[in-house]
Amino acid sequence: QELELKLEALEKGGYDHFMLKEIYEQPRSIHDCMRGRINLEDQLVSLGGILEYKDQIVNANRIIFVACGTSWHAGLVGEYLFEELARTPVEVEYASEFRYRNPVINEGDVVIAISQSGETADTLAAIELAKSKGALIVGICNVVGSSISRATHCGSYTHAGPEIGVASTKAFTAQVTVLTLMALMIGREKDTISNERFTRLLIDLHNIPDKVESVLKSDAKIQHIADIYKDAPNALYLGRGINFPVALEGALKLKEISYIHAEGYPAAEMKHGPIALIDEEMPTVVIATKDASYEKVVSNIQEVKARKGKVIAIVTKGDSVVSGIADHVVEIPKTDDLLVPLIATIPLQLLSYHIAVMRGCNVDQPRNLAKSVTVE
Ligand code: G6P
Repeated sequence: QELELKLEALEKGGYDHFMLKEIYEQPRSIHDCMRGRINLEDQLVSLGGILEYKDQIVNANRIIFVACGTSWHAGLVGEYLFEELARTPVEVEYASEFRYRNPVINEGDVVIAISQSGETADTLAAIELAKSKGALIVGICNVVGSSISRATHCGSYTHAGPEIGVASTKAFTAQVTVLTLMALMIGREKDTISNERFTRLLIDLHNIPDKVESVLKSDAKIQHIADIYKDAPNALYLGRGINFPVALEGALKLKEISYIHAEGYPAAEMKHGPIALIDEEMPTVVIATKDASYEKVVSNIQEVKARKGKVIAIVTKGDSVVSGIADHVVEIPKTDDLLVPLIATIPLQLLSYHIAVMRGCNVDQPRNLAKSVTVE
């Protein structure tokens, strides 16, 4: 048994938990995920695993993402990426709902299944259903040779390496990276992205690992914030546009490992319900980076503050407006608006991690949860 403990400590590479190790691996895993797929010199994105079906994917009338849990959140980010860059209509479906709904699938529809483990029963069943209706099935999996990767016609692996912590971290950012690459590839083929934007996105994407690395340096600050809010009974997460799914994912991480009730909302929806919950006890985590909806998010923060709520804001480096209103800010480096999820997710993962550790929770194996859900 002593040997087993030593082996586990070795596997954790000096970190207290697999989750922390996996959070810290993200500069590397995002880099691995892009390796050989981006060519800055020739301005190319190539995804070998879907090459054979490229035309069908580029010319899809509609793309339907099916997934569960964190992978479903990656699909939501994908919706913004694909619609913006490739102008392909997108639907994002919970695999469990899709499979029991007699979904309408027409010729020219492409189904993209996203799954870290590649073993999730509902996602697998959704694939089989869509396949029987004639759709082309593309997989985005982390585990090579998994059931889902075998059930699809083609796909792109995320190459994030094994993820042991039950709460998904590095697999999520790798999924979002693959989705960004796919959207860029389709957009390039369809000519729905200007050359200038394409080049800028490639450069920004290439720089993401370094930016993630710099966000990890805020760990001590995030730990301090975690200490203040570790006993909160509830938390609200807000974001707009492509950062709305980031809010959902932040809330899910907190729920999963710290057992604090948390909800993610599109910031503008706050006034239709969650605002009623705000009081001095309630922390609201807001993704308030400088993008098209920045001003609107700032007014949402003011609304929370007017009700004496506590605000933890994720802001773009150098922001002085939000730091004047929010209780705490965590700065992240500037990047293209579409790539912000890859960076803004990191502080939220760390916040959940530290809160869970401080509450004495079993971070790597939260109660009632499983790494891969192979039953219905
Ligand atoms: C479980 C895990 C989650 C994961 C979800 C989907 O609930 O605990 O972390 O996001 O399944 O898993 P998949 O392997 O299909 O991405």
